[in-house]
Amino acid sequence: MTAPVIELCDVSRRYDDGPPALHDVSLTVRPGEAVAVLGPSGSGKSTLLNLVAGLDRPDTGTVTVDGVRVDGLGEAASARYRRAKIGMVFQFFNLLDDLTVADNVVLPAQLAGMARGEASRRAAELLEVLGVDRHAGAYPGRLSGGERQRVAVARALMNRPPLLLADEPTGALDTASGEDVSQLLTELNADGQTIVVVTHDLALARSCTTRTIQLVDGRITADRAADPTGPTGPTDSTAGAVAAESAR
Ligand SMILES: Nc1ncnc2c1ncn2[C@@H]1O[C@H](COP(=O)(O)OP(=O)(O)OP(=O)(O)O)[C@@H](O)[C@H]1O
Ligand SMILES: [Mg+2]
Repeated sequence: MTAPVIELCDVSRRYDDGPPALHDVSLTVRPGEAVAVLGPSGSGKSTLLNLVAGLDRPDTGTVTVDGVRVDGLGEAASARYRRAKIGMVFQFFNLLDDLTVADNVVLPAQLAGMARGEASRRAAELLEVLGVDRHAGAYPGRLSGGERQRVAVARALMNRPPLLLADEPTGALDTASGEDVSQLLTELNADGQTIVVVTHDLALARSCTTRTIQLVDGRITADRAADPTGPTGPTDSTAGAVAAESAR
């Protein structure tokens, strides 16, 4: 069997003296899976993503991502780990408003030491594939929410991460833009991108993921493969083009 992309073993995390945000969670995600994490507000979904991203540490248990033990990393090593292994997409895009779209997308590659010319070329290609290349020179504030999220996805893919994490990526979007982002995630996964997406949006979970996990009070209460007879996203030329870019 292929090595897991994510392996959580008996992970617990408690903040202050509240109840555990995560309680003895064990989870394995394999390459090529697209996993939706569902659950009520406060159930620990973002905590789970933050632990996988190395933005937070468990109190007990281990977190291993693509062969790296993440739970013990210091700050600098954790930042290096994220640049190499993780692409992140957030509800409110988290783009830097005083950098152009192109510069936002290039930034992770520059931090990772990619040559400037190569980074610019790749950023331009990703923006084109994601259909926002005409905004490359604009500042993010001028773009619609859906366009901003496409830019955020381009930025997340810049360093060809083995794992894409998304926390409520459609949470701030209108229905049509949300469906665009959902379609985009479906296509990326069809190309082999491993994805974990936290969402309240059942349509997003249904359309773009192969597995759903339910969290309640910091515990996994259900873990199901998606219904194979349910809607599966079509793969179109965007998928092939992103795959081709990523393979370079
Ligand atoms: N930095 C923090 N300090 C203190 N408590 C926290 C912190 N982060 C999370 N918590 C608590 O941990 C629990 C789980 O929070 P988490 O953000 O993981 O929930 P969530 O499932 O992502 O919720 P939502 O759907 O509202 O985003 C909550 O009770 C929350 O208040
Ligand atoms: Mg959350």
